[in-house]
Amino acid sequence: MKNKNKKPLTAVYRRLLAAAKAARQKAYAPYSRYRVGAAVLTFGGKIHAGCNVENASYGLTCCAERVAIFKAVSVGERRLRAVAIVLDAPSYGAPCGACRQVIYEFGPAADVLMGTVRGGVRVQRIGELLPLAFGPAHLKD
Ligand code: THU
Repeated sequence: MKNKNKKPLTAVYRRLLAAAKAARQKAYAPYSRYRVGAAVLTFGGKIHAGCNVENASYGLTCCAERVAIFKAVSVGERRLRAVAIVLDAPSYGAPCGACRQVIYEFGPAADVLMGTVRGGVRVQRIGELLPLAFGPAHLKD
């Protein structure tokens, strides 16, 4: 796997990317034909994976990242350590803006592993991908 970062990927991050890649195979994308896989690593050490799920009413589509995050949250795992995405792009797999906001909600310091089907990967913190984010802290004061 081509790793465009200084640090080598840890074993758990490699497992997370593999889970995202496997989930991509389950994508329901008959309209765009663009398949995306995602997987989240929680602070409890568990991995939850998801794929994009489209709909004939296009706007109802749910991205892979949100499917994976909502799976984790729905079983009580709300604290995300890292999120991996795998899609078909030339060098890295950028998550959409809406998903960046949802990642921030449950993992304000999460690493985002942006992988491609060809093995490229780029890792950045969610705060770098969504600077000056609106988040849960705004509701506290
Ligand atoms: N998609 C994702 O699953 N995640 C993203 O971050 C970007 C877009 C999906 C939605 C749709 O099914 C397809 O990719 C094309 O936009």
